[in-house]
Amino acid sequence: MEELLLAGNDTGGRLKQKIKCAAESAAEMEDKMSKIAVVYWSGTGNTEAMANFVAEGIREGGKEADVIVVDQAQASDLKDMPVFALGCPAMGAEQLEESVMEDFVTEVEGFAAGKTIGLFGSYGWGDGQWMRDWVERMQNAGAAVLGGEEAMCNEAPDEDAEAACVDLGKKLAAV
Ligand SMILES: Cc1cc2nc3c(=O)[nH]c(=O)nc-3n(C[C@H](O)[C@H](O)[C@H](O)COP(=O)(O)O)c2cc1C
Repeated sequence: MEELLLAGNDTGGRLKQKIKCAAESAAEMEDKMSKIAVVYWSGTGNTEAMANFVAEGIREGGKEADVIVVDQAQASDLKDMPVFALGCPAMGAEQLEESVMEDFVTEVEGFAAGKTIGLFGSYGWGDGQWMRDWVERMQNAGAAVLGGEEAMCNEAPDEDAEAACVDLGKKLAAV
């Protein structure tokens, strides 16, 4: 209403401009709501393969998936996204990859409250401790971790792991 009254004084179409901006930001917001980012780190390709299966599930679930290597992602891009997926294999001694992923996840922890996050990743000789720790960490930050630690696998994803990743994608798309 205030806008309409102001329109009386509007010279040069300021109101039109405001409406255009509002429409653009609504479109941007809608884009962020319908697109689900899948950000991952992978040294030898196992977690990368899982990322692509998660994306397949997201698309099967009717949403768009944006698969991004963590080196090319900004944690702040996820701030406005209510739902996203993160992937990382067990590295170090049951840790996240230290040079990029660890810092990325620390940043995400700062705004994770209220988000729905899917976690996935591959491991080798361990028993999945890194994933249990990661799930707990994100839950402690206030996120809902969809599927918990279901989307993890030993080395390259087999058929079961592929199904678990696709299922995670579908669940993320359904949020
Ligand atoms: C430096 C290094 C550290 C690793 N640390 C662990 C570990 O603590 N626990 C484990 O189960 N596997 C560990 N692994 C094995 C990897 O998690 C496993 O090979 C995984 O499939 C790699 O996934 P990627 O192909 O996505 O890089 C380690 C591998 C490397 C190279």
